[in-house]
Amino acid sequence: MNPTGSFKDRGMTVGVRVAQKVGVDRLACASTGNTSAALSAYGARGGMETLVLLPAGKVAAGKIAQASLHGARILEVDGNFDQCLDIVQDLADRGEAYLLNSLNPFRLEGQKTIGLEILERHKREEGSYPDRIVLPVGNAGNTAALYKCFRELVESGALEEDEVPKLTGVQAEGAAPMVEAIEDGTDGTRRWEDVETIATAIRIGNPVNAPKALPGIRATGGTAVAVSDEEITDAQRTLAGEGVGVEPASAASVAGLRKLRERGVVDAEEEVVCLTTGHLLKDPDAAAAAGSEPEPVPNDTDAVLEHIEEPSSVAGTVRRGASKAADSPLIPALVAGGLGIGYLLRKLRSKK
Ligand code: F0G
Repeated sequence: MNPTGSFKDRGMTVGVRVAQKVGVDRLACASTGNTSAALSAYGARGGMETLVLLPAGKVAAGKIAQASLHGARILEVDGNFDQCLDIVQDLADRGEAYLLNSLNPFRLEGQKTIGLEILERHKREEGSYPDRIVLPVGNAGNTAALYKCFRELVESGALEEDEVPKLTGVQAEGAAPMVEAIEDGTDGTRRWEDVETIATAIRIGNPVNAPKALPGIRATGGTAVAVSDEEITDAQRTLAGEGVGVEPASAASVAGLRKLRERGVVDAEEEVVCLTTGHLLKDPDAAAAAGSEPEPVPNDTDAVLEHIEEPSSVAGTVRRGASKAADSPLIPALVAGGLGIGYLLRKLRSKK
């Protein structure tokens, strides 16, 4: 269960608790939205002042609403996420605030639970561990946390080296420095100054956890792939057509898997878990734009019946999504991880 509707809750509950224990009184984060929603909720619960720095005009409505109602001070910066994070790091260096971005090690400790749950549930339901985990990548904190989780399991003897799932990152084409680094074989990422994508949650040009995440992708035999906004929206519709409502960044994992299967990078026999990370209601505007328009009808039963005889754009969209899902090589076999808000896992298996 993720109380604020994204996977950020898993790390934030640990990070804020530690801050409270050590007597911090002002918390701060830069955010594309979900981190700020989680920090605002946990900060409120812990009775601490909370500052969130957001890129002006680039944060989805649901996330701002959350930060607003939970009582954070929302500071809208005329810049992108990476510039917001530069400021938060300055504030932390000057001792003015406690930084709760994924540079904070306690947050990543909490996020390791995602890796544990995937392994536990997959083993229980399928009798084996998944071959691969595909996840959307922004700051690469989650990728780093999963890698740490698996490394520690191997070190403790609980997992064999060859049982570690291949960590596979997906970025939007307009914000893909990790993909670039994997393709070019470089140790670090180049900072992208201009980033753009419909998936605003991962609109990030300088992934600060790249030094921990790139080795994780490489050491597990994974890869990284960039997807277009159209491919993201298409995957979002497919998931929605199966009753799984996610925000665009979250659908990127499924879009990425599709692309890797088309390219033959992921073969038909592989057992793959796609991690989805944020609830549909986080970005109601993107959902409405990807979905269909409400249909005005007269206030009269006969007229309503007459109206529904006509082909509906609503049903059309859903049917299109469902048939596409059935035709696609991805046959969803399982929704793992519990249907906690915003944290949905889908295990996708090839059509035999
Ligand atoms: N999916 C969603 C819905 C996110 O909000 C984020 C990151 C990611 C994926 C990527 O995770 O950064 O660990 O690689 N959102 C951050 C935020 C940056 O501020 O909410 P990552």
